[in-house]
Amino acid sequence: MWDYTDKVKEHFLNPRNVGDIADADAVGEVGSLACGDALKLFIKLDDNKERIVDAKFQTFGCGSAIASSSALTEMIKGKTLDEALGVTNQEIADFLGGLPEEKMHCSVMGQEALEVAIAKYRGGPLPVHHDHGHDQEQEGEIVCKCFGLTDGFLKKVIAQNRLHTAEQVTHFTKAGGACGGCIPKIKELIAEVLGEQKQDAPKRPEKLTNLRKMQLIQEVLENEIRPQLWSDGGDLELIDIAGATVQIAFRKACAGCASSGYTAKFVEQKLRDLVSDDIVVEEVQQ
Ligand code: FES
Repeated sequence: MWDYTDKVKEHFLNPRNVGDIADADAVGEVGSLACGDALKLFIKLDDNKERIVDAKFQTFGCGSAIASSSALTEMIKGKTLDEALGVTNQEIADFLGGLPEEKMHCSVMGQEALEVAIAKYRGGPLPVHHDHGHDQEQEGEIVCKCFGLTDGFLKKVIAQNRLHTAEQVTHFTKAGGACGGCIPKIKELIAEVLGEQKQDAPKRPEKLTNLRKMQLIQEVLENEIRPQLWSDGGDLELIDIAGATVQIAFRKACAGCASSGYTAKFVEQKLRDLVSDDIVVEEVQQ
């Protein structure tokens, strides 16, 4: 049984901004009833066409899809289109106090509907990740035929959400969740993204004294890891280092987040890549 936050339940039972806007400036539609999820997002701009003054949605989806859409419409009101484009699926989930990982694809759908709406309004090409819409032209190579998802979209979600397993990719995008024929390719994409991230990363030193190891752990946390968490509204604090065990406590959006277990694994992997293979990260409540 999935654990839903009170805020998810509240937005599911009393969703904000349900309906349509007859004279909407922008409309974004993603999903397909065949896939079980569909979302139509309506946006109304102010007279200067600068800020979003109203947003409404219609969705055919589960409770998490309703709650994510409700959260999204609340979050983008008052924002410029560029500011709204900066809203990530993780921020939608964080607004709701977290979503079960199996339901993260609902927050991805909200982010996509927004990007499609804005791209259509601006008259530019539709975003390459507009892949839930089976009736639209798509760029990139289709990886998951069952859900019509391209490699470009999957790589973006893998990189943005720091996904490490095909199962996580299924939870975030549905790719691989039907026939499973695309799972080998999804694993290749994960390896590709991880490889690209590693190329950018500084090299790990050969031999370390205990003192240098502790210094390096702190440097990697400060310079490599915390900035990534800040970009998602989260944070962590280093509590203690005992030998190869690094104790951390999550703060802000990361505290109590349903995905904190995966974030801890991400921190551990990063420290192993950049400091030492034997590092074990423990999350503590302090
Ligand atoms: S091809 Fe991806 S689940 Fe079938």
